[in-house]
Amino acid sequence: MASEVQIFEGALDKGLEGIVACSTAVSSIQGNTLNYRGYTIENLAEKSTFEEVIYLLWNDKLPTAEELTQFKAQLVSEMELPADFINVLKNLPTQNVHPMAWLRTAVSLLAHWDKDANDMDTAAFKRKSLRLTAKMGTIVCAFEAIRNKRELLAPKKDKSMAWNFMYMLKGTEPKADHVKVFDTCLILHADHELNCSAFATRVTASSLSDLHSAIVSAIGALKGPLHGGANEQVMIMLKKIGTIEKAQAFVKDALQAKEKVMGIGHRVYKNGDPRAAILRKMSEKMTAEIGEPIWYQMSALIDDTMFSEKGLMPNVDFYSATVYYCMGIPTDVYTPIFAVSRIAGWCAHAQEQYANNRIYRPRGKWVGKSGLTK
Ligand code: ACO
Repeated sequence: MASEVQIFEGALDKGLEGIVACSTAVSSIQGNTLNYRGYTIENLAEKSTFEEVIYLLWNDKLPTAEELTQFKAQLVSEMELPADFINVLKNLPTQNVHPMAWLRTAVSLLAHWDKDANDMDTAAFKRKSLRLTAKMGTIVCAFEAIRNKRELLAPKKDKSMAWNFMYMLKGTEPKADHVKVFDTCLILHADHELNCSAFATRVTASSLSDLHSAIVSAIGALKGPLHGGANEQVMIMLKKIGTIEKAQAFVKDALQAKEKVMGIGHRVYKNGDPRAAILRKMSEKMTAEIGEPIWYQMSALIDDTMFSEKGLMPNVDFYSATVYYCMGIPTDVYTPIFAVSRIAGWCAHAQEQYANNRIYRPRGKWVGKSGLTK
């Protein structure tokens, strides 16, 4: 007779806090340090490019110069969207539609143009990861172009993913310093151990469903304000507060009302998110450069007040909001940018899940009625 599966109730209604749900070699949080494949995020932010980081996440090693050149060429050659797909996108509504909802739909649709969509072979997986990662930014830029009634520009083959994203988003060539900052933001958001959307990716992949389905699950998870959706909410909050004088009272009122202050707090980091420390410096510099230091000053005051009142510190979404603001990026595109970067990590997690799969199937503790009859 088969033995009963042991039931462990330790994580009950606690959002799986502290539960190790799988083994992973993609990225790790050790204390206050975040590593991608063994490299610290600080090291990669300073010395790498987003393309290099994608390669690292997918191949468990940094590329040689030749491998990187080849990989960049492959990525950029996959950035363009099929013409028929763009035509379908043009018929989707954009007014009163959040770009994350639009992105979710578009990525699902894109599967119908991918000849490998249902091929679960390893080589097909690699081709799909490359296509999806290359096209994610283009899809976000297509949304921006379509809602502003302009044609989507074609990506330039000799430019980076960061350059091309900014070019296609705004329709003009980006400033070199903005491209550098944006590339660093893409690096910082590329993966983060078993976060909510990576877990969603893995749960969907664990049923041996296809990659597009796993990525659509991830986009849905990232969209929420407790996860990637927080960066947009931070900027909305800062604009609502409006002046430095009102910042402290805003925080205290929110805490009194038991409301969340967006971009603050983290399930794992209790002594600060290392990505926020990098973004804080970028925010200070950039807000000063555009002559609007108020956004950084207000953020810093909220940061200090949250720490003194509640012992909570900013996460990746807090200072990234003002960094994106300084680059003139529309507020509702902040979370889609997160997806443009995190797709790299989602693909790495799906790859790892498929390679060592067992379906995720936890238990629920029954707290409902029993023994009823009709
Ligand atoms: N504002 C006010 N209070 C907060 C905040 C916050 N941002 N974050 C946590 N708290 C408080 C809670 O109210 C709770 O207080 P209590 O013990 O007095 O009731 C305590 O801190 C623990 O909070 P939880 O929500 O249980 O923490 P959890 O680990 O479940 O959630 C999370 C982490 C979702 C990040 C939370 O801090 C939060 O909601 N932050 C705001 C949203 C946000 O910034 N999300 C982005 C996270 S990073 C990312 O996903 C990319």
